[in-house]
Amino acid sequence: MSNNVENKRRVNRQFLLLSRPIGDIKESNFEYKEVPIPTLNEGEVLIRNLYLSLDPTNRIWMSDMVQYMPPVELGEVMRGVAMGVVEESKNSNLRSGDIVTGLLGWQDYAVLKEEPVNFITKIHPPLPNPLFTAVGLLGATGVTAYFGLLDIGQPKPGETVVVSAATGAVGSVVGQIAAIKGCRVVGITSSDEKCQWLTSSLGFDAAINYKNTDLNSALAIACPKGVDIYFDNVGGSILDTVMSHLNLFARIPLCGLISTYNSTEPVPGPYNFGLILMKRVRIQGFIISDYRNRWHEAIKDLGQWMESGKIKQEYEIVEGLENAPKAIHKLFNANKIGKLIVKISSLN
Ligand SMILES: NC(=O)c1ccc[n+]([C@@H]2O[C@H](COP(=O)([O-])OP(=O)(O)OC[C@H]3O[C@@H](n4cnc5c(N)ncnc54)[C@H](OP(=O)(O)O)[C@@H]3O)[C@@H](O)[C@H]2O)c1
Repeated sequence: MSNNVENKRRVNRQFLLLSRPIGDIKESNFEYKEVPIPTLNEGEVLIRNLYLSLDPTNRIWMSDMVQYMPPVELGEVMRGVAMGVVEESKNSNLRSGDIVTGLLGWQDYAVLKEEPVNFITKIHPPLPNPLFTAVGLLGATGVTAYFGLLDIGQPKPGETVVVSAATGAVGSVVGQIAAIKGCRVVGITSSDEKCQWLTSSLGFDAAINYKNTDLNSALAIACPKGVDIYFDNVGGSILDTVMSHLNLFARIPLCGLISTYNSTEPVPGPYNFGLILMKRVRIQGFIISDYRNRWHEAIKDLGQWMESGKIKQEYEIVEGLENAPKAIHKLFNANKIGKLIVKISSLN
Protein backbone atom coordinates (compact mmCIF):
# COMPACT_ATOMS: atom_id res chain seq x y z
CA MET A 1 0.00 0.00 0.00
CA SER A 2 1.28 3.47 -0.83
CA ASN A 3 1.75 6.02 1.92
CA ASN A 4 0.49 8.88 -0.17
CA VAL A 5 -2.78 10.64 0.22
CA GLU A 6 -4.07 10.59 -3.34
CA ASN A 7 -6.96 12.59 -4.60
CA LYS A 8 -8.92 9.97 -6.46
CA ARG A 9 -8.21 6.28 -6.53
CA ARG A 10 -9.15 3.74 -9.15
CA VAL A 11 -10.13 1.18 -6.55
CA ASN A 12 -11.98 1.39 -3.28
CA ARG A 13 -9.63 0.50 -0.42
CA GLN A 14 -11.44 -0.83 2.60
CA PHE A 15 -10.70 -2.15 6.07
CA LEU A 16 -13.11 -4.86 7.15
CA LEU A 17 -13.55 -6.15 10.67
CA LEU A 18 -11.88 -9.57 10.55
CA SER A 19 -11.98 -10.54 14.23
CA ARG A 20 -13.12 -9.05 17.52
CA PRO A 21 -10.32 -7.69 19.71
CA ILE A 22 -9.51 -9.33 23.00
CA GLY A 23 -7.90 -6.58 25.05
CA ASP A 24 -6.15 -3.98 22.90
CA ILE A 25 -7.09 -3.56 19.24
CA LYS A 26 -4.58 -5.32 16.97
CA GLU A 27 -3.86 -4.49 13.34
CA SER A 28 -4.69 -8.13 12.64
CA ASN A 29 -8.30 -7.47 13.72
CA PHE A 30 -8.72 -5.76 10.34
CA GLU A 31 -8.61 -7.14 6.81
CA TYR A 32 -7.43 -4.89 3.97
CA LYS A 33 -9.31 -5.24 0.71
CA GLU A 34 -9.46 -3.49 -2.66
CA VAL A 35 -12.80 -3.57 -4.48
CA PRO A 36 -14.13 -1.72 -7.53
CA ILE A 37 -15.54 1.73 -6.97
CA PRO A 38 -19.29 1.15 -6.64
CA THR A 39 -21.73 2.10 -9.38
CA LEU A 40 -24.96 3.74 -8.30
CA ASN A 41 -28.58 2.67 -8.39
CA GLU A 42 -31.43 5.17 -8.45
CA GLY A 43 -31.61 7.09 -5.14
CA GLU A 44 -27.98 6.40 -4.19
CA VAL A 45 -25.05 8.76 -3.65
CA LEU A 46 -21.30 8.10 -4.05
CA ILE A 47 -19.11 9.80 -1.46
CA ARG A 48 -15.33 10.08 -1.62
CA ASN A 49 -13.98 10.15 1.94
CA LEU A 50 -11.61 12.98 2.85
CA TYR A 51 -11.10 12.66 6.61
CA LEU A 52 -11.79 9.72 8.92
CA SER A 53 -12.37 10.39 12.59
CA LEU A 54 -10.77 7.84 14.94
CA ASP A 55 -12.80 7.51 18.12
CA PRO A 56 -12.76 5.39 21.28
CA THR A 57 -16.21 4.17 20.31
CA ASN A 58 -14.62 2.29 17.41
CA ARG A 59 -13.44 -0.17 20.08
CA ILE A 60 -17.02 -0.57 21.35
CA TRP A 61 -18.38 -1.16 17.84
CA MET A 62 -15.79 -3.91 17.31
CA SER A 63 -17.09 -5.82 20.34
CA ASP A 64 -20.06 -8.11 20.55
CA MET A 65 -21.49 -6.47 23.67
CA VAL A 66 -24.61 -4.56 24.65
CA GLN A 67 -24.18 -1.12 23.11
CA TYR A 68 -26.09 1.80 21.66
CA MET A 69 -25.87 0.52 18.06
CA PRO A 70 -25.50 -2.97 16.66
CA PRO A 71 -21.86 -4.07 16.69
CA VAL A 72 -19.99 -4.12 13.37
CA GLU A 73 -20.46 -7.58 11.87
CA LEU A 74 -17.39 -9.67 11.07
CA GLY A 75 -16.57 -9.16 7.38
CA GLU A 76 -18.29 -5.76 7.30
CA VAL A 77 -16.48 -2.50 6.47
CA MET A 78 -15.26 -1.02 9.75
CA ARG A 79 -17.73 1.61 10.90
CA GLY A 80 -16.34 5.11 11.28
CA VAL A 81 -17.39 8.75 11.19
CA ALA A 82 -15.88 10.49 8.18
CA MET A 83 -16.20 13.60 6.09
CA GLY A 84 -16.49 13.25 2.35
CA VAL A 85 -17.39 14.93 -0.90
CA VAL A 86 -20.23 13.81 -3.15
CA GLU A 87 -18.68 12.46 -6.36
CA GLU A 88 -21.91 11.41 -8.02
CA SER A 89 -25.57 11.56 -6.99
CA LYS A 90 -28.74 9.84 -8.10
CA ASN A 91 -30.61 11.38 -5.19
CA SER A 92 -32.17 14.84 -5.31
CA ASN A 93 -31.15 15.57 -1.68
CA LEU A 94 -27.43 15.74 -2.49
CA ARG A 95 -25.49 17.12 -5.44
CA SER A 96 -22.02 16.50 -6.78
CA GLY A 97 -19.55 18.60 -4.78
CA ASP A 98 -21.61 18.67 -1.57
CA ILE A 99 -19.66 18.02 1.61
CA VAL A 100 -21.14 15.64 4.16
CA THR A 101 -20.22 13.93 7.41
CA GLY A 102 -21.63 10.66 8.69
CA LEU A 103 -20.96 6.97 9.17
CA LEU A 104 -19.03 6.55 5.93
CA GLY A 105 -16.67 3.82 7.11
CA TRP A 106 -12.97 2.99 6.86
CA GLN A 107 -12.80 3.15 3.08
CA ASP A 108 -12.12 5.50 0.16
CA TYR A 109 -15.67 5.49 -1.21
CA ALA A 110 -19.04 5.02 0.46
CA VAL A 111 -22.47 4.61 -1.10
CA LEU A 112 -25.38 6.19 0.73
CA LYS A 113 -28.50 4.16 0.29
CA GLU A 114 -30.94 5.49 2.82
CA GLU A 115 -31.24 7.95 5.65
CA PRO A 116 -30.82 7.98 8.61
CA VAL A 117 -28.73 4.82 8.73
CA ASN A 118 -25.52 6.70 7.96
CA PHE A 119 -26.42 9.75 10.12
CA ILE A 120 -25.54 12.02 7.22
CA THR A 121 -25.19 15.74 7.83
CA LYS A 122 -24.69 18.09 4.91
CA ILE A 123 -22.16 20.86 5.62
CA HIS A 124 -23.59 24.07 4.21
CA PRO A 125 -21.26 26.80 2.90
CA PRO A 126 -19.28 28.64 4.09
CA LEU A 127 -17.27 25.48 4.69
CA PRO A 128 -15.31 25.34 7.94
CA ASN A 129 -11.68 26.30 7.76
CA PRO A 130 -9.79 24.04 8.06
CA LEU A 131 -12.21 21.54 6.57
CA PHE A 132 -11.42 18.76 9.05
CA THR A 133 -12.89 20.75 11.95
CA ALA A 134 -16.20 19.32 10.71
CA VAL A 135 -15.15 15.99 12.28
CA GLY A 136 -13.58 17.74 15.27
CA LEU A 137 -14.61 20.86 17.13
CA LEU A 138 -17.48 21.53 14.69
CA GLY A 139 -18.51 17.88 14.59
CA ALA A 140 -19.42 15.12 17.03
CA THR A 141 -16.50 15.88 19.33
CA GLY A 142 -17.43 19.49 19.99
CA VAL A 143 -21.13 18.74 20.09
CA THR A 144 -20.56 15.97 22.68
CA ALA A 145 -18.64 18.35 24.92
CA TYR A 146 -21.29 21.06 24.43
CA PHE A 147 -24.44 19.11 25.28
CA GLY A 148 -22.79 16.87 27.86
CA LEU A 149 -21.58 19.85 29.83
CA LEU A 150 -24.34 22.39 29.23
CA ASP A 151 -27.45 20.22 28.97
CA ILE A 152 -26.57 17.53 31.50
CA GLY A 153 -23.96 19.26 33.66
CA GLN A 154 -25.78 22.62 33.75
CA PRO A 155 -22.78 24.62 35.00
CA LYS A 156 -23.21 27.82 37.01
CA PRO A 157 -20.59 30.57 37.41
CA GLY A 158 -18.25 29.86 40.31
CA GLU A 159 -18.79 26.09 40.28
CA THR A 160 -15.93 23.63 40.01
CA VAL A 161 -15.84 21.36 36.96
CA VAL A 162 -13.49 18.37 36.78
CA VAL A 163 -12.96 16.60 33.47
CA SER A 164 -11.00 13.40 32.76
CA ALA A 165 -9.14 12.51 29.54
CA ALA A 166 -8.75 16.27 29.64
CA THR A 167 -6.31 16.62 26.74
CA GLY A 168 -8.53 14.48 24.51
CA ALA A 169 -10.88 15.60 21.78
CA VAL A 170 -13.94 15.92 24.01
CA GLY A 171 -12.26 16.70 27.34
CA SER A 172 -10.22 19.64 26.06
CA VAL A 173 -13.38 21.29 24.71
CA VAL A 174 -15.38 20.58 27.88
CA GLY A 175 -12.80 22.46 29.94
CA GLN A 176 -12.82 25.48 27.65
CA ILE A 177 -16.63 25.70 27.59
CA ALA A 178 -16.69 25.41 31.39
CA ALA A 179 -14.25 28.33 31.58
CA ILE A 180 -16.47 30.39 29.25
CA LYS A 181 -19.34 29.69 31.66
CA GLY A 182 -17.32 31.10 34.56
CA CYS A 183 -16.38 27.83 36.27
CA ARG A 184 -13.16 26.73 37.93
CA VAL A 185 -11.78 24.03 35.62
CA VAL A 186 -9.61 21.11 36.68
CA GLY A 187 -8.34 18.55 34.17
CA ILE A 188 -7.17 15.00 34.86
CA THR A 189 -4.64 13.70 32.37
CA SER A 190 -1.72 11.31 31.93
CA SER A 191 1.53 13.32 31.88
CA ASP A 192 3.18 16.45 33.22
CA GLU A 193 3.57 17.82 29.67
CA LYS A 194 -0.15 17.43 29.10
CA CYS A 195 -0.86 19.18 32.44
CA GLN A 196 1.34 22.06 31.32
CA TRP A 197 -0.54 22.29 28.00
CA LEU A 198 -3.92 22.39 29.75
CA THR A 199 -2.98 25.23 32.08
CA SER A 200 -0.76 27.30 29.78
CA SER A 201 -2.45 26.85 26.39
CA LEU A 202 -6.09 26.10 27.23
CA GLY A 203 -6.50 28.16 30.40
CA PHE A 204 -7.47 25.34 32.79
CA ASP A 205 -7.15 26.50 36.40
CA ALA A 206 -5.38 23.30 37.44
CA ALA A 207 -4.38 19.96 35.95
CA ILE A 208 -3.51 16.67 37.62
CA ASN A 209 -1.29 13.92 36.27
CA TYR A 210 -3.12 10.86 37.64
CA LYS A 211 -0.21 8.59 36.67
CA ASN A 212 2.36 10.08 39.05
CA THR A 213 0.24 11.73 41.78
CA ASP A 214 -2.11 10.56 44.48
CA LEU A 215 -5.31 11.64 42.71
CA ASN A 216 -7.28 11.91 45.94
CA SER A 217 -4.87 14.38 47.59
CA ALA A 218 -4.35 16.28 44.34
CA LEU A 219 -8.11 16.75 43.93
CA ALA A 220 -8.41 18.05 47.50
CA ILE A 221 -5.83 20.73 46.66
CA ALA A 222 -7.12 21.55 43.17
CA CYS A 223 -10.80 21.65 44.22
CA PRO A 224 -10.84 23.37 47.64
CA LYS A 225 -14.61 23.92 47.38
CA GLY A 226 -15.34 20.36 46.21
CA VAL A 227 -16.56 19.24 42.79
CA ASP A 228 -19.90 20.38 41.36
CA ILE A 229 -19.63 18.70 37.94
CA TYR A 230 -17.52 15.70 37.03
CA PHE A 231 -17.52 15.21 33.24
CA ASP A 232 -16.51 11.56 33.07
CA ASN A 233 -14.70 10.27 30.00
CA VAL A 234 -12.92 7.34 31.62
CA GLY A 235 -14.88 5.54 34.38
CA GLY A 236 -12.97 3.03 36.54
CA SER A 237 -10.90 4.09 39.53
CA ILE A 238 -10.72 7.74 38.44
CA LEU A 239 -14.52 7.96 38.61
CA ASP A 240 -14.47 6.43 42.08
CA THR A 241 -11.85 8.83 43.37
CA VAL A 242 -13.55 11.94 41.97
CA MET A 243 -16.87 10.80 43.47
CA SER A 244 -15.50 11.18 46.98
CA HIS A 245 -15.02 14.93 46.28
CA LEU A 246 -18.52 15.62 44.98
CA ASN A 247 -20.62 18.38 46.52
CA LEU A 248 -24.31 18.15 47.38
CA PHE A 249 -26.40 18.07 44.20
CA ALA A 250 -23.35 17.52 41.99
CA ARG A 251 -23.85 16.34 38.40
CA ILE A 252 -21.96 13.67 36.46
CA PRO A 253 -22.44 13.72 32.68
CA LEU A 254 -21.31 10.17 31.91
CA CYS A 255 -19.77 10.54 28.48
CA GLY A 256 -17.40 7.58 28.22
CA LEU A 257 -15.57 4.80 30.05
CA ILE A 258 -12.35 4.54 28.06
CA SER A 259 -10.35 3.02 30.93
CA THR A 260 -12.58 -0.06 30.66
CA TYR A 261 -12.95 -0.54 26.88
CA ASN A 262 -9.97 -2.90 26.56
CA SER A 263 -10.71 -4.83 29.76
CA THR A 264 -10.85 -8.57 29.43
CA GLU A 265 -12.35 -8.93 32.94
CA PRO A 266 -15.70 -7.60 34.22
CA VAL A 267 -15.16 -4.08 35.55
CA PRO A 268 -16.05 -3.69 39.26
CA GLY A 269 -17.35 -0.53 40.89
CA PRO A 270 -17.90 2.26 41.28
CA TYR A 271 -17.31 1.43 44.94
CA ASN A 272 -18.47 4.90 45.99
CA PHE A 273 -21.91 4.38 44.47
CA GLY A 274 -23.62 5.10 47.84
CA LEU A 275 -22.44 8.72 47.60
CA ILE A 276 -24.91 9.27 44.78
CA LEU A 277 -27.66 8.91 47.37
CA MET A 278 -25.93 10.70 50.24
CA LYS A 279 -24.90 13.68 48.10
CA ARG A 280 -28.06 13.62 45.91
CA VAL A 281 -25.90 13.42 42.81
CA ARG A 282 -27.43 13.29 39.33
CA ILE A 283 -25.54 10.97 36.99
CA GLN A 284 -26.69 10.62 33.39
CA GLY A 285 -25.21 8.68 30.53
CA PHE A 286 -25.73 10.16 27.08
CA ILE A 287 -24.95 9.37 23.46
CA ILE A 288 -24.49 12.31 21.18
CA SER A 289 -26.82 10.99 18.49
CA ASP A 290 -29.63 11.66 21.03
CA TYR A 291 -29.01 15.35 20.29
CA ARG A 292 -29.27 14.98 16.51
CA ASN A 293 -32.18 17.44 16.29
CA ARG A 294 -30.35 20.09 18.32
CA TRP A 295 -26.97 19.75 16.54
CA HIS A 296 -27.23 23.23 14.98
CA GLU A 297 -27.47 24.92 18.40
CA ALA A 298 -24.08 23.57 19.38
CA ILE A 299 -22.44 24.27 16.01
CA LYS A 300 -23.58 27.91 16.13
CA ASP A 301 -22.01 28.56 19.56
CA LEU A 302 -18.92 26.46 18.93
CA GLY A 303 -18.33 28.23 15.60
CA GLN A 304 -18.56 31.64 17.25
CA TRP A 305 -16.27 30.61 20.10
CA MET A 306 -13.77 29.19 17.61
CA GLU A 307 -13.80 32.35 15.48
CA SER A 308 -13.38 34.64 18.47
CA GLY A 309 -10.49 32.50 19.77
CA LYS A 310 -12.31 31.50 22.96
CA ILE A 311 -12.01 27.80 22.10
CA LYS A 312 -9.33 25.98 20.23
CA GLN A 313 -8.81 22.36 19.37
CA GLU A 314 -5.53 20.63 18.72
CA TYR A 315 -5.54 18.04 15.89
CA GLU A 316 -3.29 15.10 15.17
CA ILE A 317 -3.70 14.24 11.49
CA VAL A 318 -2.36 10.88 10.33
CA GLU A 319 -1.78 10.71 6.56
CA GLY A 320 -3.28 7.81 4.64
CA LEU A 321 -6.16 5.39 5.17
CA GLU A 322 -3.60 2.57 5.28
CA ASN A 323 -2.39 3.90 8.64
CA ALA A 324 -5.78 3.84 10.39
CA PRO A 325 -5.40 0.40 12.07
CA LYS A 326 -2.07 1.47 13.59
CA ALA A 327 -3.11 5.02 14.47
CA ILE A 328 -6.14 4.01 16.52
CA HIS A 329 -3.76 2.86 19.30
CA LYS A 330 -2.96 6.49 20.01
CA LEU A 331 -6.37 6.83 21.66
CA PHE A 332 -5.63 4.10 24.17
CA ASN A 333 -1.94 4.62 24.90
CA ALA A 334 -2.58 8.36 25.46
CA ASN A 335 0.10 9.12 22.86
CA LYS A 336 -1.59 12.19 21.41
CA ILE A 337 -3.19 15.50 22.26
CA GLY A 338 -6.54 16.67 20.89
CA LYS A 339 -8.54 15.12 18.07
CA LEU A 340 -7.19 12.17 16.11
CA ILE A 341 -8.03 12.15 12.39
CA VAL A 342 -6.85 10.19 9.35
CA LYS A 343 -6.56 12.09 6.08
CA ILE A 344 -7.82 9.86 3.28
CA SER A 345 -7.88 12.19 0.27
CA SER A 346 -7.81 15.89 -0.62
CA LEU A 347 -10.85 17.87 -1.70
CA ASN A 348 -9.29 19.13 -4.95
N1 LIG B 1 -21.30 9.68 24.75
C1 LIG B 1 -20.94 10.07 23.54
O1 LIG B 1 -21.78 10.31 22.67
C2 LIG B 1 -19.47 10.19 23.24
C3 LIG B 1 -19.03 10.87 22.10
C4 LIG B 1 -17.64 10.99 21.91
C5 LIG B 1 -16.76 10.43 22.84
N2 LIG B 1 -17.25 9.76 23.90
C6 LIG B 1 -16.36 9.19 24.93
O2 LIG B 1 -15.60 10.25 25.48
C7 LIG B 1 -14.32 9.78 25.89
C8 LIG B 1 -13.26 10.65 25.20
O3 LIG B 1 -13.38 10.44 23.80
P1 LIG B 1 -12.55 11.32 22.77
O4 LIG B 1 -13.14 11.14 21.43
O5 LIG B 1 -12.42 12.70 23.30
O6 LIG B 1 -11.14 10.57 22.76
P2 LIG B 1 -9.79 11.20 23.20
O7 LIG B 1 -10.05 11.78 24.54
O8 LIG B 1 -9.32 12.12 22.14
O9 LIG B 1 -8.75 10.01 23.35
C9 LIG B 1 -8.71 9.18 24.42
C10 LIG B 1 -8.04 9.80 25.69
O10 LIG B 1 -8.48 9.08 26.81
C11 LIG B 1 -7.47 9.04 27.80
N3 LIG B 1 -7.22 7.62 28.12
C12 LIG B 1 -6.88 6.62 27.25
N4 LIG B 1 -6.78 5.45 27.90
C13 LIG B 1 -7.08 5.71 29.20
C14 LIG B 1 -7.15 4.91 30.38
N5 LIG B 1 -6.90 3.59 30.35
N6 LIG B 1 -7.46 5.51 31.56
C15 LIG B 1 -7.74 6.83 31.61
N7 LIG B 1 -7.68 7.65 30.53
C16 LIG B 1 -7.36 7.09 29.35
C17 LIG B 1 -6.26 9.76 27.19
O11 LIG B 1 -6.33 11.14 27.56
P3 LIG B 1 -5.32 11.80 28.66
O12 LIG B 1 -3.94 11.43 28.22
O13 LIG B 1 -5.61 13.27 28.63
O14 LIG B 1 -5.69 11.19 29.98
C18 LIG B 1 -6.53 9.66 25.69
O15 LIG B 1 -5.93 10.66 24.93
C19 LIG B 1 -14.27 8.30 25.50
O16 LIG B 1 -14.61 7.53 26.62
C20 LIG B 1 -15.35 8.18 24.43
O17 LIG B 1 -15.88 6.88 24.36
C21 LIG B 1 -18.58 9.64 24.12
